Amino acid sequence: MQERENFQSRLGFILAAAGSAIGLGNLYQFPFKAGQGGGASFLILYLIFTVVICFPILLSEIAIGRKTQSNPAKAYSNLGFPKWNIVGLMGVICGALIFSFYILVAGWVLKFLVESIQGNLVYGKESFFTLIADPYETMLYASIFMLITAFFVSRGIKEGIEKIAKYVLPGIFIILIILIIYALTLPNAFEGIKFYLIPDFSLLLDMNTIQAALSQSFFSLSLGMGALITYGSYVSKKENILRASIWITLSDVTVAVLAGFLIFPLVFSQGIDPKSGGGLLFITMSEIFSSMGGLSAVILSTMFFLLLSLAALTTTISFLEVSVAYSIEKYDLNRKKAAYIVAAIILIIAIPSAMSHMKSGIFNSGFITYFNTEISVSFMDFIEDIASDFYLPLGGMLIVFFTSRVWKLVNFKEELTIKNKFDEKIVTLALFSLRYLILPVLLLLIILTVLNHFFGINLIN
Ligand code: TRP
Repeated sequence: MQERENFQSRLGFILAAAGSAIGLGNLYQFPFKAGQGGGASFLILYLIFTVVICFPILLSEIAIGRKTQSNPAKAYSNLGFPKWNIVGLMGVICGALIFSFYILVAGWVLKFLVESIQGNLVYGKESFFTLIADPYETMLYASIFMLITAFFVSRGIKEGIEKIAKYVLPGIFIILIILIIYALTLPNAFEGIKFYLIPDFSLLLDMNTIQAALSQSFFSLSLGMGALITYGSYVSKKENILRASIWITLSDVTVAVLAGFLIFPLVFSQGIDPKSGGGLLFITMSEIFSSMGGLSAVILSTMFFLLLSLAALTTTISFLEVSVAYSIEKYDLNRKKAAYIVAAIILIIAIPSAMSHMKSGIFNSGFITYFNTEISVSFMDFIEDIASDFYLPLGGMLIVFFTSRVWKLVNFKEELTIKNKFDEKIVTLALFSLRYLILPVLLLLIILTVLNHFFGINLIN
């Protein structure tokens, strides 16, 4: 049996978990989804979902982890409900699948960082599609990123995961603030801020926006697959997980919201449509930096892609840790071996995704056509639809069902330390949500999403 480590301090745990949460989801996906969802309307929905639905789930995951001190696939049996282990195992599998395409995007980010450092600002504009269509180059950079990730995971909780988070998280905040200050001085920056902060209420009830905001909130907080059960399992019994959870949520939301203050001024300053999303962020950013030109643009571009790389790194570390914690405990491997073996397996799983943007082959946009629809997607998009858009909310719902109906809220509450009135209010809200609100809301959303996404049936608008 391998010995289990704990985080050294509460701050260390907060930073590591915030590092898991803060990633490409905040800096890359949030602004473009907000752009498509009408800016402020999306922001409002996202904030409501985060407080009312996602925060209580985050608290449940961390409480389950801390209580059981075990990986997600064994946590439930430690509480006396072995049948539920399947939910934990599904989470681990789903996490590995999400990781397998996330690492590819992280690889692209790294490639962009390398090009920026060399002053090649037109790279994105000219070569983004060539890069993603090239599985060899994609896999090469993803593998480098994976190697760095595995290195930190192999060093363990205190010496690897906690230490890197302590350096990287403050760095992320500092770089982000510097970039925002610069962006705000650009012409038209204010138009971007207006778009971001003044809501278009007609979009608030748009099914696509609602679904996008909820899945964004889930993804951004790393919920639904037991990542936080894993991190929670390294928290010592003395720590106050309620306060820690509040800090983790706050820092994740702050970085997402701040990312909007960076991207929209930049986008509007160059007269680019805020709705141009997806992989276009790479192209858009490259357009912006190359049209600025000069040394300052090289520095800016380098800082921007460094920011993304650092944020992605603490996130890939937590993805890998979930599978590594599982493998260590299941197969009694030592950590170092487990880290590199699991990393290699994930890279193998990633190959079809890396082939998803090729002009030909079976994994590209013609990979699968959903029932009854004209929608046909690539392997990578398929994995994303199933694992992220569909499974994360489902996993979250199962975790909530478990906490509220199986493990029971009294036992859950015992894991929380309540120190003052504020804590008490938060816990009351969370318990209320867990008991009455989250299950019906998630169930409805999952049904609507499945109908809409996979069957092309839109019941609302
Ligand atoms: N939260 C991460 C981000 O914003 C992505 C993510 C989703 C994640 N689920 C996860 C990370 C599970 C680690 C574990 O980029």
